[in-house]
Amino acid sequence: MDKMWWKQAVGYEVYIRSFKDGNGDGIGDIRGIADKLEYLKSLGVDFVWICPFYDSPMDDNGYDVRNYYKIAKEYGKMSDLKSLISKAHSLGIKVVIDLVLNHTSITHEWFKLSENRVEPYTDMYIWRDGRYVDGKLLPPNNWQSFFSGSAWEYSKKRKQFYLHIFSKSMPDLNYESPVTLGEISKIIKFYADMGVDGFRVDAVAHIGKEVKFDDCKLNKFFKVYSNLPSAHSHLKKLNQVFESHNLFTIGEMGGEPTPKDILKYSDGELDIISNFDQMGAFGDGHKINRRGLFRSLRQKERLSSGGGWSALFYLNHDYPRLVSKLMGEGDKVNASLCMATLMYMLKGTPIIYNGEEIGMENYPFKSPKDFKDVNAKMIFENAEDIEKEFENLKENSRDHSRTVMQWNDTKYAGFSEHIPWIYVNPNYKKINVEKEEKNEHSVLCNYKKILSVRKKYIADIVDGKYKFYFKHNVLGYTILGNNKIGVIANLSERTVKISTIYKKFRASRDNVCYSNMPLYDQLKPYQVAILNLND
Ligand code: NOJ
Ligand code: CA
Repeated sequence: MDKMWWKQAVGYEVYIRSFKDGNGDGIGDIRGIADKLEYLKSLGVDFVWICPFYDSPMDDNGYDVRNYYKIAKEYGKMSDLKSLISKAHSLGIKVVIDLVLNHTSITHEWFKLSENRVEPYTDMYIWRDGRYVDGKLLPPNNWQSFFSGSAWEYSKKRKQFYLHIFSKSMPDLNYESPVTLGEISKIIKFYADMGVDGFRVDAVAHIGKEVKFDDCKLNKFFKVYSNLPSAHSHLKKLNQVFESHNLFTIGEMGGEPTPKDILKYSDGELDIISNFDQMGAFGDGHKINRRGLFRSLRQKERLSSGGGWSALFYLNHDYPRLVSKLMGEGDKVNASLCMATLMYMLKGTPIIYNGEEIGMENYPFKSPKDFKDVNAKMIFENAEDIEKEFENLKENSRDHSRTVMQWNDTKYAGFSEHIPWIYVNPNYKKINVEKEEKNEHSVLCNYKKILSVRKKYIADIVDGKYKFYFKHNVLGYTILGNNKIGVIANLSERTVKISTIYKKFRASRDNVCYSNMPLYDQLKPYQVAILNLND
């Protein structure tokens, strides 16, 4: 079997602020994560990815870094991080941290020096003169921020505009300056020396920009700073640093990369590619887009078989909850188990998002004032029609995935004894870890079963050949390795006889490795099964 450990691993993303409060101030922290490592072990997790914990003004909950060498006060101390790493390692769990390298906080020392043209920092950010039109000072071009509005902000001090593709408090670093690469390399070394095993590399598809700075086409505004040849050349250099420290990397690949772009990233730049094609699996009316799902599963497997390696996931801290995306299906919970099984038996590396494994749901936001996320705030700031934006954010806000982790049915869902920084979903008495641990039919127990079957057949998954099937809304695949495995899900509203639809699949009492319902030769609506098809 391919010996790369991360090809055989299951990851788990922790949104630190919302996961577990270890000191009773209502904010999740490093100690809280350490307290829950045994839980992660029991789920079958091999590495934990921790969202940014660096010192930060928290405009974007830590994706705006003020000092990479300091831990945010509310998250703990460097010694807490060291103890977390050592406890994780003693349990056989690796630690992956978020490397925010496309931008910093506006409060970072580098930015202040750059704004004041202090060498060698003058060009460490992307500065341009504005344009005067009818006597009015306008940004250098029409580039837009992902978070809405112009991607440029004026600095009175420097009398120039700086580029920010996210919030205006997060200026983009300039990788055309060797100083940037040098500083980021030092950060990588610092954490490698502390014992971290890898990085999830934030917004890495955007580190190269179109340097002519001409106006962009507004329908695909992000193309001028996404997946450009320069991003690849910067990354090749950074990868030497990663490799020399034996670190593995998961690259966040936004900006609609083509399959060709993705393969380029896999060629000596990044280990795992985390792209977003699977968002095409969700259609209008909170329903599964079955064809979209089929295509994205096949695409992810093809990447893993074709020289790259896919991150397998449907949600993270930037997306609403999986179960809530499926409200329009007859049985949203079983529909989500179908989706999970189909995704997590693929060739690639699953990354579960905290709370997904217990089927956490979206939060019932009542008013535009309810949102905490800087992205939502910027959308309202630039909105022409607040009501319309609110309707959209009620479905899609990033805050849905950031409500606190539901551990039990005590006050604040066992996340803290103090009122939390963000909401507790009112459904916490029904959906929580403690309750689900006791119920073998819970989402949690189903996730454990799916992941343990994956572990059992990991050699077949990593090295086997996949063949995909999609007929009458029943979809799945076979894996041909030393064993022959079938994964099949009935995403229709009627009961189907497996062997009638697919001759190759057969189910009997003794070849079912996993199913979310009792299985004979028929699949009920939203039933999924993993079958051993050995002769
Ligand atoms: C992607 C992160 O996942 C998101 O949460 C963040 O706002 C942006 N990158 C900017 O760092
Ligand atoms: Ca705390």
